Amino acid sequence: MSNPVLDNIRTRRVVREMTDEQVSEEHLEIILEAGRWSPTGSNHLPNRFLVVQDAELIELIRRVSPGIYSNAPTYIFVCVDRRNFPTYIDEEADDPVFLMDVGQAAQTMALAAHSLGLASGPVTSFNVPALRKILKLPDRFTPWIVLCLGHPQPNPQFVMKPGKRRYWQDLVYRERFVPWRDFEVDSD
Ligand SMILES: Cc1cc2nc3c(=O)[nH]c(=O)nc-3n(C[C@H](O)[C@H](O)[C@H](O)COP(=O)(O)O)c2cc1C
Repeated sequence: MSNPVLDNIRTRRVVREMTDEQVSEEHLEIILEAGRWSPTGSNHLPNRFLVVQDAELIELIRRVSPGIYSNAPTYIFVCVDRRNFPTYIDEEADDPVFLMDVGQAAQTMALAAHSLGLASGPVTSFNVPALRKILKLPDRFTPWIVLCLGHPQPNPQFVMKPGKRRYWQDLVYRERFVPWRDFEVDSD
């Protein structure tokens, strides 16, 4: 089956080679607005987005982020602000729900970027204490994932293999842990 949403999901790939062209304000705002719509656990809305486009800051961030291979001109850090959590949650604990919230937002924005013809790639490998210093982040504010954004290089030097995926039937179980392919559907 094909429709614009499914096609967008299927054709998005991580892109690491980008041009020097900056992401326009209009596109940036559309992507951030899309991130706002991603769901969060208990609708606590802990996600905060930190946009970095300053070339000197990007250079410093790259030095402390071994996972950033791309030359993206825009970074959107998806962060959690602990102040947004009710007091019954331990303020020091890294609740795994945070990670789901930020992951949802990053993917929502990646799909929005792809729908606009932009390139993106998520990265989680960066040094948080160093980022805190570079970006002057308060302790309550933690960056979990950064979406690198830009325009795709039309003639990339390193051609990426198509993203490898397993067949969905090999990833799915039904009912009492029956592999999808072994499950017998009652045809009555
Ligand atoms: C949680 C997460 C962390 C990732 N971290 C990095 C990273 O540090 N550096 C990087 O270049 N790519 C990173 N990626 C991108 C993956 O390598 C990429 O999505 C995967 O190889 C599949 O590629 P595709 O999405 O183009 O099919 C990350 C992806 C996810 C979902």
